[in-house]
Amino acid sequence: MQLLLLVIGFGTVLAGYVHPEQIHLSWTEEINQMRVTWVTYLNVPAQAAYRPILCGNVPTPSNFTLINGETKKFHEGSHFWEYQHIHTAVFNNLDSNCWYEYKVKNLGVWSKTYMFNGRTPDTNATFRDVNNPFSLVIFGDWGTGPNGQYTKHLLGEETLTRDYLGILHMGDIGYNLDSDDGKVGDTYLNMVESIAATYPYMTLPGNHEKANNFTHYKARFNMPNNGANQGTNYFYSFNLGPAHFIMYNTNPYFDDMNTTADADLETQWIANDLALANKQRDIRPWIITLAHHPLYCSQDWSNEDSIEDCGEQPAVLKPIFEDLFYSNSVDLALQAHVHIYERDAPIYKNETIPSQYDSQNMHINPNAPVYIVGGAAGNRLGTNVPASKTPQPWARFLSNDYGYGRLTVFNKTHMLWEQFSVLQLTEIDYVWIIKDQARYKPVLLN
Ligand SMILES: [Fe+2]
Repeated sequence: MQLLLLVIGFGTVLAGYVHPEQIHLSWTEEINQMRVTWVTYLNVPAQAAYRPILCGNVPTPSNFTLINGETKKFHEGSHFWEYQHIHTAVFNNLDSNCWYEYKVKNLGVWSKTYMFNGRTPDTNATFRDVNNPFSLVIFGDWGTGPNGQYTKHLLGEETLTRDYLGILHMGDIGYNLDSDDGKVGDTYLNMVESIAATYPYMTLPGNHEKANNFTHYKARFNMPNNGANQGTNYFYSFNLGPAHFIMYNTNPYFDDMNTTADADLETQWIANDLALANKQRDIRPWIITLAHHPLYCSQDWSNEDSIEDCGEQPAVLKPIFEDLFYSNSVDLALQAHVHIYERDAPIYKNETIPSQYDSQNMHINPNAPVYIVGGAAGNRLGTNVPASKTPQPWARFLSNDYGYGRLTVFNKTHMLWEQFSVLQLTEIDYVWIIKDQARYKPVLLN
């Protein structure tokens, strides 16, 4: 009897160490691919299985296709035994008209089955899905504390019912991925698994990922690679329908981030990427940038953090990025870091730039980027930053509520941003960005 209990106990412990956890998806740099990443605590063979479903008249195959994963060992804690094994597998040849079921496996232990949309970014020059609207969930600064649970609750409900294409997290992930020898990062990635295993969970680094040269950020995520980022997940871009998205890393522009990331290399990559995007502006007119630290937010002069986040740090970033974004006709600059929601008008050099038509919730043919701060998903610091008592003239809407944004690109002319409060369980703000005229004017060389 004792032997039986011992065997059962050992089996239970072993299953805990080989059971797949922290499952999350991400798009790759290739078209029609999806990568799944997950963790076990013992180094055991990794496999994944998938099959198309809901492909119109095409019948669902009865069998899953089995593929082998790759595994890397990651020392997540300060003690020699605190290793985890991070597995990845790539689903290839996806059909954008299908949904897919998938599951992952280690040593015979299967995860639950998840489902994702087969529509992936088009990284090629060809243009697809021009009349196919899509939505993304976008936020920054999301952790495991009580405040993060509000977002987890509503976002969990939303993702069950709504057809998003993906989730974009603008840094400060889990507070902190490395804390408590990595256990906080493990807890966070398990907390978001049901969401991040259902939608590609695309990230960029915030200042809270800085420990040990962003080691946990680089190890736990797998973002699209490019020639300049060298597999760091720091900056990349992708196309969805008529929109080009640039996810970039603001940390190397600040001395106290102690990062080996090369700021000049990144700036040059962004400039090149914008130039390439502008060559295809006729077929892909929207350009949207996302980063952690803001270029614009309203300072609260009674709050030291606000003075730093909305004053000192933007003063570092503006000389690098503002003219780059303005001259390349970026439409929307999404930002985080400040634990607040603030939507601003089109801005250039600290001035509101009139559009062809402006109202509280609409800009038609804007002449400068619209700036939005969405850093209110639920930080670890207890409360969000109070809305500034001295909002700038370009500020259009501020809220302290925890929440997240939704961006819907309808077509080449209409884009809608919405902000949801996870406390009030409702939408609290929106803005239409509409354009039927190209703002970008190529510089003609002699
Ligand atoms: Fe931050």
